[in-house]
Amino acid sequence: MKPSIAFFDTKPFDRDFFPNINKRYGYAIDYFENKLTPKTVKLANEHTVICPFVNDTLSAEVIEELHRIGIKLIALRSAGYNHVDLKAAQGKIPVVRVPAYSPRAVAEHAAALMMTLNRKTHRAYYRIRDNNFAISGLMGFDMYGKTAGVIGTGKIGKAIIEILRGFGMTIVAYDAYPDDSYAQAHGFEYHHLDTLYKESDIITLHCPLTPDTKHMINKKSIDTMKKGVMIINTGRGALIDSRDLVEGLKSGSIGSAGLDVYEEESDYFFEDYSSMTITDDILARFLTFPNVLITSHQGFFTREALTAIAETTLENIKLFFEKNELPNEVCAKCG
Ligand code: NAI
Repeated sequence: MKPSIAFFDTKPFDRDFFPNINKRYGYAIDYFENKLTPKTVKLANEHTVICPFVNDTLSAEVIEELHRIGIKLIALRSAGYNHVDLKAAQGKIPVVRVPAYSPRAVAEHAAALMMTLNRKTHRAYYRIRDNNFAISGLMGFDMYGKTAGVIGTGKIGKAIIEILRGFGMTIVAYDAYPDDSYAQAHGFEYHHLDTLYKESDIITLHCPLTPDTKHMINKKSIDTMKKGVMIINTGRGALIDSRDLVEGLKSGSIGSAGLDVYEEESDYFFEDYSSMTITDDILARFLTFPNVLITSHQGFFTREALTAIAETTLENIKLFFEKNELPNEVCAKCG
């Protein structure tokens, strides 16, 4: 029997890309707009696979219930899997992900955040629409010759390094597992985090969220950074202690921040709140700074990436059910 898929947190763009690629597979897919939570998990009844996105809840409680109702596979349509309790899934339901769909998409978005904050095109756009052609307050800096600190030099980190090297920037990198031959080939060096914080004009985060990296950008690390540094986060929100970032922005220690992710994003990102009140005071405070640019977790959002996500997700499901293979498995013991 063919697997049937319960698709959670469906967005209009999912309905464009998945049905098209699914023509090749012919799976029955129920597209639920609800996020996966302990309350909505019952929608997975009578399915064999669930397909969650980044803001779905895969806690021990939810996984236990998925196991009880007979779910055979959790097919994440994301690269990040920090929202999954892998220990709880161990031995119950295998978890697969899309390890790389378009690292360039995310890296190019990080570069867009940098360039917008630097040259203040977000502010120029509104000024000129108001017939205000004055340029004072919009001064930026040459990227050429500046230093970028890249934390995490995996697929996305490497893509941003190549973009920033194109600008003529010096790269100072940090990774828990440095790739020295890549560094040599691309003309940069790995350093300790302390050095990276001290030397960088722009710091961009591309490491996963783990207990080691949670709140790595905090008051203590901000205090060691260059005054006026630009912070870019397209990784995961909780890499940054948001309260400390607000304080850093208020004091001027942080010159600007480009955030595609936010630690409490799950209630807001991807949703239309234009007629509602934002009750998250930190998010509301971020929105008051002219030198903070927030995008709603859209780093991945290109045609190429969405096609690759749909292809890999459906292929992951096929390989498991037809060949018992899990090439893109993530698990507590996988290391
Ligand atoms: P990757 O797995 O290719 O690279 C991650 C790198 O981080 C590896 O080189 C790894 O050695 C390094 N790393 C692991 N622990 C570390 C630590 N404690 N300190 C420093 N480095 C460490 O992952 P990829 O594809 O480059 O993605 C990076 C992150 O970007 C993902 O974990 C995800 O959170 C985020 N992401 C965001 C998207 C968006 O739309 N904004 C889309 C896709 C991914």
